[in-house]
Order: sequence, then C-alpha cells, then structure tokens
Amino acid sequence: MTLQNIDKTLVKEIKKRRTFAIISHPDAGKTTLTEKLLLFGGAIQQAGAVKSRKNARAATSDFLSIEQERGISVSSSVMKFTYKDYEINLLDTPGHKDFSEDTYRVLTAVDCAVMIIDNAKGVEPQTQKLMEVCRMRNTPIITFINKLDREGLEPLDIFEDIEDKLQIECVPLTWPIGMGKRFKGVYNLSKKELGVFSSGYTPKDDGIFIDDLTDPKLDELISQSQADELREDVDLIVGASDPFDLDLYLNGTQTPVFFGSAINNFGVKEMLDTFIQIAPAPGKHTTTTREVAAEEKAFSGFTFKIQANMDPEHRDRIAFFRICSGKFTKGMKVKHHRIGKDIKISNATIFMAQERSNVEVAFPGDIIGIHNHGTIKIGDTFTSKEPLKFLGIPNFAPEHFRRVILKDPMKAKALHKGLAQLSEEGTIQVFKPLTGNLYIIGAVGVLQFDVTMARLKSEYSVKAGYETIDLSVARWVTCEDEKILKEFKKKNESSLTLDAEGWLTFLTTSVYQLGFAMEEWPDIHFHKTREHN
Ligand code: G4P
Repeated sequence: MTLQNIDKTLVKEIKKRRTFAIISHPDAGKTTLTEKLLLFGGAIQQAGAVKSRKNARAATSDFLSIEQERGISVSSSVMKFTYKDYEINLLDTPGHKDFSEDTYRVLTAVDCAVMIIDNAKGVEPQTQKLMEVCRMRNTPIITFINKLDREGLEPLDIFEDIEDKLQIECVPLTWPIGMGKRFKGVYNLSKKELGVFSSGYTPKDDGIFIDDLTDPKLDELISQSQADELREDVDLIVGASDPFDLDLYLNGTQTPVFFGSAINNFGVKEMLDTFIQIAPAPGKHTTTTREVAAEEKAFSGFTFKIQANMDPEHRDRIAFFRICSGKFTKGMKVKHHRIGKDIKISNATIFMAQERSNVEVAFPGDIIGIHNHGTIKIGDTFTSKEPLKFLGIPNFAPEHFRRVILKDPMKAKALHKGLAQLSEEGTIQVFKPLTGNLYIIGAVGVLQFDVTMARLKSEYSVKAGYETIDLSVARWVTCEDEKILKEFKKKNESSLTLDAEGWLTFLTTSVYQLGFAMEEWPDIHFHKTREHN
C-alpha cells in the first residue's frame, strides 16, 4: 500500500471500530450479556429491551407465520453502539431453533468474538461448532464464564474442558471468589482490583485496589476463609498458567478469561474495558488476487447474509454487507463484480441497537444493509473499481437433509427458480443427485426447511412437501487427478450430487461412512466448506 493511498481520517475511524459476535450455546446468557453491553453503550435505556425486541419482532412479522407460531425470531440483526469513543458492531448469532448457516456466516464477517460459557455446563456442543468456524480464521476470542452467582464447576475444571474441547489456552484475567451463595466477587489479576459482589451492585462501583493479597483489608471485605482461598488460588494460577500474550490472543491460540454474572451485570464492565483495548480493529481481508487492507482508500466489501422479511410491508430482502476498506458514502456508485454492473447505493441502512437508519457514511468494520431485489447473493464483492473477489465467506456443509416432493407437477419451473433463489440467499443448499431427478435440500438448522416451504408457497406459489432421507453429512469433493475423480464418480454415483453452483458433493449417512470413503479414496479431498463461484 502506498502512502498516498492512506487517508488519516479513515485510519482514525478504523482504529476505533470493533466488530464482533458472541458465540455460545443456547441459555448460556447471550441475550442477557448483549443487553448489558448495550446498556453500557447507552444504546438501550432499560433492561429487558433486548428480549422485548425478540418478542416484538415475532409479533409484528406477518410474512413468515412460523415465526409467530414458534415465537422465535428467524432473522438476526446487527447492533451498533458506542462505548468510550469506540464504535462497536455486535453481530447477532442466531442460536436457538433459528441456528442456521447464517450463524456460521456471521462469524466470517467479524474481527473477533466473545465466548460465553455457562459456569454449570462447561463447553457445550453449539459453542464447539461455532469455535470450529472461528478456528478457520484464527478469530481472537475473549471468554466470559457466566452465572457465577449459581453453583457450577470449579474454574480450573472449566479451563481444562475449554482447552481439551476447543484447543485454546485459557489465561484468567479475573479470578472468582467462591460461587453460588458463597460468590463474593472477582479479583482482577492485572489491575489488582477486587470487585465485591453484592445484591445492590452497580457497574459504576469501582473495584478496590488491593496490591498485596496478604493485606488484612481483604479478610474484612470477603471473610478470612474466602480471602485465604483467593490467596491460594492466585498463588496456584499465577504459578501454573502462562501470562497473557497479546499476539497469542490475536492469532487465536490463547483466550483471556473473565468470570461474572451477566444477569447481575457483574464482571461485564471488566470484560468490555479489556475488549476495547485488546480486540483487533478491522484488518486485512483475503481476495482471490491479493490482501486488502482496511486503510486502503478504495471502497470494498462483501455480502455475508441475505435476510427476507425485514420489512413485511414490502416483502423485501436486505443484503448485509461488511465493509472491508475505504469509506462508504450515501449515493456512492460501486461495481457489483459478479454481474459486472455499476450500482448506486442510495438507501443503505445501518443498524442501531433497536432501530435502522439511513447511512450517510460508514467505515471498515461497519455493516450496512442494502435492498436486494434478487441480484445480490452471498459472497458477492462490491468495490469502487478494482475487480476483486473476497474469500472466506463459504457455504458450510449442511447436517440436515430432506427430499423435495412437488405437489403440482406444472410448477417444476417455479420450484427450480425458488430453490435457486433461496440457495443464493443462503437459506438452504440445493443438491441435484447425479442419478435421479428429485432435489435434495440441505440445511445447518432444521427450521430452514419450514422457512423454505413457507417462502416457496408465498413467493413462488409452489406447493411442495418433504420426504425424510437418511443423510447427515455432506462434503464437497475435488481431486487433482482427473482419472481418480472419474473412477470415484463411477463407484459412488448414487451418493453424488451437484450443488446449486455445479460443485460435486458427496452425501452420506454418517461421519463413519464418510471416514470409510476417505480411507478408501485418499487422493480425493473432502471439503467441509466451499467458496462461492
Ligand atoms: P441465551 O440468549 O444465551 O439463550 O441466554 P439468555 O440470556 O436468554 O439467558 C438464559 C437464562 O439464563 C435466562 O433465564 C437468564 O435470565 C439466565 N441468566 C443469564 N445470565 C445469568 C447469570 O449471570 N446468572 C443466573 N443465575 N442466570 C443468568 P430464563 O429463566 O431462561 O429467562 P428469564 O425468565 O430470566 O428471562
């Protein structure tokens, strides 16, 4: 990058941006923590607002009635808030029944993540899945161990669980004093500050500086026996764990750990204060031709999510777009490279905590919403001029499958069109078997099947149904050797399909079956993700 390509105001804006997501298993406390973070940022005024947002959305949405029936939100959102001069973009990761490929793909658009672990549960399956995606990009992770006001596992056992299941080294930055009824607070190991937990605790309460843990003041504050426990614990962990290393955090091999209770807003501020200091500002992104630095003057970005039904009045779709470099200004013309057209973005949306507003300017790390009438698909790159294609916004292998049965044979064309569109939007993935005519659709979360049926009916007037099918694993296959690939195709024809972009995909019943195939065909590559064409 040459010096004249750097703009000082742009650099300033980038430095103060943090774009992140929360990864957790349902019920670990993501909504509660989100709410506390938004309260700190002044983006919401009262507790309970995030939950009521969930409800309000389900109640007013008239398009996907399944959203109403199930009382959950099919869509997710972006929340922007300011904290101590930092502009923070929090991207929601749908995680309950609405867990889907979008949840994974949101992680391709963030620069860092906060992982919440329930004190009583340790590492749970969904967290493990999401960590796998973070691993692919070496996303820096800060860990928040939640619900210390309840009985749970010993902190060191949680560390062992995290290190074992997630292959990331834990470094405590705060340490809990007791838990459940005996929970007295946390000791900040680097600031040497004690945060005393009490029912009347407010996050404005400053920690008490205790430089030397032998200070008798500690015994007065938290009782002699718990003070002794803390002294022993701190001796042990200071001796046993490596110190925090910023580089190891930034390359995703070490995670700083905080303890607290989100519902009581306890331990959250410590985490947020550290987050703004150590979490990375928007950095580089890889394209098929070169790396693009956030500070480059020329504008660029990519679509990582397309959402229908944001505006039930218009039955519109919004493409969520992550800005990677340059400055976005309202009305700017950008090149949509896949279709080779210039488009003018005059009504992009930026997402504040609970509202949407029209964007005048936006910077790298920001997420803007662009109205989409079917011309934008997941992974599309827009730039001011240079033909680029960002990498790392892939399709993720689905885990649930259904065969589509068309009820009205006259609608075959409409079904084809509908499925193609829904797969471009990332709702589902569509597979056409090499042998046979019936489409198989795959999804990361089962709710997507209902969403697909509802949308096929309302947008394409297609009545269809599903047949269950004994499949649970999909892998995209490639091979350098044409002859071996031909042989593989011949022998496995009944398990092979072409996905919506024409890529050869192997579908099978279980990971064991996949293992057999991998053993039998060592020259074939079985991919869990696939980049878009
Ligand atoms: P999620 O978005 O990750 O699914 O979790 P959410 O924040 O909705 O929290 C799940 C449950 O855990 C909620 O209880 C919430 O109040 C509770 N919770 C969150 N943080 C803490 C904490 O620090 N301590 C304790 N003891 N509980 C916590 P719920 O009964 O399911 O919902 P609600 O009736 O409280 O809304």
